[in-house]
Amino acid sequence: MAIHTDISQEIRRLTEERKAVILAHNYQVPEVQDVADFTGDSLGLSQAAARTDAEVIVFCGVHFMAETASILCPGKTVLLPDLEAGCSLAATITADELRQWKAEHPTAVVVSYVNTTAEVKAESDYCCTSANAAKVVQAIPPDREVLFLPDLYLGDYVARVTGRKNIRVWPGECHVHAGIRPGHFHEALRLHPDAGEIFIHPECGCTTNCIAFAQDTPELQNRIHILSTSGMIRRSAASAAKKFIVATETGILYPLQKGSPDKTFVPLKADAVCEYMKRITLEKVLRSLQEMVFEIKVPEGVAARARTAIRRMLELA
Ligand code: 13P
Ligand code: SF4
Repeated sequence: MAIHTDISQEIRRLTEERKAVILAHNYQVPEVQDVADFTGDSLGLSQAAARTDAEVIVFCGVHFMAETASILCPGKTVLLPDLEAGCSLAATITADELRQWKAEHPTAVVVSYVNTTAEVKAESDYCCTSANAAKVVQAIPPDREVLFLPDLYLGDYVARVTGRKNIRVWPGECHVHAGIRPGHFHEALRLHPDAGEIFIHPECGCTTNCIAFAQDTPELQNRIHILSTSGMIRRSAASAAKKFIVATETGILYPLQKGSPDKTFVPLKADAVCEYMKRITLEKVLRSLQEMVFEIKVPEGVAARARTAIRRMLELA
């Protein structure tokens, strides 16, 4: 702990010196969240990047998030403390594959989840996050076909919520969230019958099953909430419930508990851990500021087209 304090103090000193800001996703390890200027979900982090007047952004998250910050802030230096911090979901579709899909559906509107590469965003009409995916799709005229990518569980959820039939969903998934299955949900309900609410991230493999089960189970009515990670933090703080079952990457438990110290949070699946998010450590954040590594720069040709899709989302958010 004393080592953490020393490193954190040096990180804060360098943050001032470099005129930097540290942004951290809700799945980051606790000590990285604590040293950050701002923590949040993908939408909140994009908004924070768009409005900062800092000269340097140290992004404690994964590669596509740092790319998004670079696209929104072309004049700033964006640093990712570990280049190996990737995303299995973003890796499920390439720009070539998307171009091929678009060629098969030339009149469709393309909505890409933020968990995609800059090249894929550049081929998209709209970007979205877990916090606003349904809202973005609802903004598209009902007669236009929609290509939604790359997460199949989020896509199925959006189709269900919007009632849209003309939506095609790419069959991609996040290995962490897809591994959260209906069996884990039923086991968690059995172990924690006193949980007042159940939070489910829409990337989870159990999402559709949980919604259907809740509809047929009177005692679950109004207790299941499909939320982004920051949506979970806001809802738990405002809720009268005292205990929550949480289905997403387990890094979320730290900000949930910090935001509501008098409440209890249990993971729906305790080993739902994203090894990419956990690659960022305090030591790497320190090195990032000391050596100004590793710079993430999206070429302007790609960035300009991707920016349009992200800005359309931010205008709707
Ligand atoms: P949100 O924090 O935007 O809900 O996204 C979760 C996620 O998987 C990020 O990689
Ligand atoms: Fe990507 Fe899944 Fe990790 Fe989120 S949890 S960064 S979607 S691999």
